[in-house]
Amino acid sequence: MANLNVRVGDLTLRNPVMPASGCFAIEYREAMDLNQLGALVIKSVSPKSRAGNPTPRVAETYSGMLNSIGIPSKGFDYYRREVLPPYTRYDTPVIVSISADTAEEFGAACAEMSLPEVAAIEANISCPNLEADGMAFAMLPETTYKAVAAIRRSTKHPFWVKLTPNAGDIAAVARAAEEAGADAIVMGNTVLGMAIDIRTRKPKLGNVMGGLSGPAIKPISLRMVHQCYRAVRIPIIGCGGIQSAEDAVEFMLAGASAVQVGTASFRDPAAMQKIIDGLQAYCDETGIASICDLTGRVILDRQLSDRWLRFAQQSG
Ligand SMILES: Cc1cc2nc3c(=O)[nH]c(=O)nc-3n(C[C@H](O)[C@H](O)[C@H](O)COP(=O)(O)O)c2cc1C
Repeated sequence: MANLNVRVGDLTLRNPVMPASGCFAIEYREAMDLNQLGALVIKSVSPKSRAGNPTPRVAETYSGMLNSIGIPSKGFDYYRREVLPPYTRYDTPVIVSISADTAEEFGAACAEMSLPEVAAIEANISCPNLEADGMAFAMLPETTYKAVAAIRRSTKHPFWVKLTPNAGDIAAVARAAEEAGADAIVMGNTVLGMAIDIRTRKPKLGNVMGGLSGPAIKPISLRMVHQCYRAVRIPIIGCGGIQSAEDAVEFMLAGASAVQVGTASFRDPAAMQKIIDGLQAYCDETGIASICDLTGRVILDRQLSDRWLRFAQQSG
């Protein structure tokens, strides 16, 4: 049997499959054994209590969904008391995802959540930066650097930084995250989108715009994982539209060390288990002894792809 273990920085995971933040809840234990997953990533929490975005918060689209849930939060005390404990009962590393309004708030929040029972922190810097008119931190290398550096100064815990596919020059953003001290990159969050109800003529989301997820965004996320892989040396966790073992293999070939599954679990709560089983079967059938050998092994005409990457970076 192939070895499915992968490493993300100092962490060893039993396999590369984990949920994407916000697309998973403890109730999934009824659909699958949570001790089978590579890691458990919890819905983002923010330090301050907040209500989340106006309703309606979700809309269906072709091959995906739009959401503008926001980060409803009851604050850290409630999170530590009520949300975290059921996850830490499993023999699976727990990843706490954090959103914050400013770089300094990110630093303080990550320090507070650097608990012994938390294996790593995922900083969702795709959320609005209140010091930059609400533009997400991860849209620009400068604001990415500032947030990541503030986190690195305040914790020794492993931390991953979740980037946004809405950024223009993703390679520059990834490099800023690496230089500022992130242990890994999660690429990435949802693609900004919009839908209109033609009868009421109103936007289908209360927040007007929202994040597109699901199979519709897979080629975009895959391309960005590859661009990040070519730009940095820290591990990359691929996310965006993954719904099958074949998709997961594609992300690993593009450069991901592990993958996160979001929207696919809404349609099939056992999707992640099927992906793990499919990865085992793929490795066994194709004679791959260790799944980590897939990372970055897409076969490229190097000259052609270097030229293309330069063009992609210039055209942003
Ligand atoms: C309903 C919903 C809620 C989400 N909440 C969060 C969140 O709290 N934090 C976060 O970093 N990403 C959040 N995301 C983004 C996902 O983690 C993931 O990056 C995105 O959906 C792309 O993956 P997918 O196509 O597999 O769903 C959310 C996505 C959805 C659909």
